[in-house]
Amino acid sequence: MFGPGLAGCSRDLREQPAPAGPGTVAGQRLNEDGWRILYYASLAPSGHNSQPWFVRVEDKHEWVVGSDKTRWLQVVDPDNREALLSIGAFIENLVIAAGFMGYDTEVKVVGRGRFDADVARIKLKPGRSNAVAIQRLEERRTVKTGFLPKEIETEDLNIFRKATGGGLYYFPRESAHGKLMAEAAVENFRLQFENEAALAEAAGWTRLSDAEAMQFRDGLTTDGMEIRGFTGWWVRSFMDKDDLTGSTWREKGVEKIRTQAAEGAGWLVITSEGETVGDLVAAGRRFQRMALLAREKNIGIHPMTQTLEEAHGQASVRENHSPSVIPQFMLRVGYVENYPKPVSLRRPVGWFLA
Ligand SMILES: Cc1cc2nc3c(=O)[nH]c(=O)nc-3n(C[C@H](O)[C@H](O)[C@H](O)COP(=O)(O)O)c2cc1C
Repeated sequence: MFGPGLAGCSRDLREQPAPAGPGTVAGQRLNEDGWRILYYASLAPSGHNSQPWFVRVEDKHEWVVGSDKTRWLQVVDPDNREALLSIGAFIENLVIAAGFMGYDTEVKVVGRGRFDADVARIKLKPGRSNAVAIQRLEERRTVKTGFLPKEIETEDLNIFRKATGGGLYYFPRESAHGKLMAEAAVENFRLQFENEAALAEAAGWTRLSDAEAMQFRDGLTTDGMEIRGFTGWWVRSFMDKDDLTGSTWREKGVEKIRTQAAEGAGWLVITSEGETVGDLVAAGRRFQRMALLAREKNIGIHPMTQTLEEAHGQASVRENHSPSVIPQFMLRVGYVENYPKPVSLRRPVGWFLA
């Protein structure tokens, strides 16, 4: 009976060293600062933790950040909207880390279409070091459970508004719009869980055992999904990929989302001005700036994206808003007593150098 006991032990896969990978030739063009900046960039969030980025090092201080088509979520994100938002978050981390390390950054979005490989050209120039709280980048994570019902304070909302530069809307849980968003989150999650192709795609990004998680260092783990304790141990030990498309997994999944959607302060929506590659990258950067400050304020952020992914959700967004409102992030938000340690894995820098 040591299994459940083991489940209670602290498991920290992030702390374990990654095996050497490819990228050593391209990596020779990077100096130590470059490796460090790209490590911080890689801590960005991404849909299904697919980490859809690559970096081509053209020169020590000139890089291209690209979109890796082998990592696109073709079923739930067929237009690469979320891939580009995630790459935006990666670029924001990169710029913050470069500033911390004493570089000014010039970011030029070069992607014209959503399927272009090259997204942005980055130039670093030695400048003055910015006194930023760099640990925020390592401490931020997606939080899904333990949200308190307390409303978000105006002061904190104003900090978020400043970070996002506008296009941010807050709907308290008990407001009419907050209730609608919670219902839509559950309903569209349920619809997505009835879609075999979407489930199979998610299963492909799920790393059930620790060995698989450590091999790929991406995707969704039990820790990241906040399936803890005995259940987490059971899932890691006994479930296989086929179970991830079965009825028990679906039912439990919808039940869990229903509980989560009812918790917390309410909902945040981040909108963009347009839908170009530049608009999406900018929205991803704005989101990440806010998420990093939320960490400091012990505010958990949980993207619940299904409403923006499913045709049913997209139609209700269109019906209830003018066409000028283009939502890019739908986020459940709430204060947490103890902000948990990050647990999702990242590929080492060498693995995403082109
Ligand atoms: C564009 C985007 C969409 C996301 N959608 C969801 C979602 O629908 N549900 C969810 O639980 N997490 C969602 N996430 C969070 C990711 O799963 C999470 O960032 C990833 O697993 C890495 O974990 P971390 O944020 O803790 O570092 C989304 C993240 C991004 C950037």
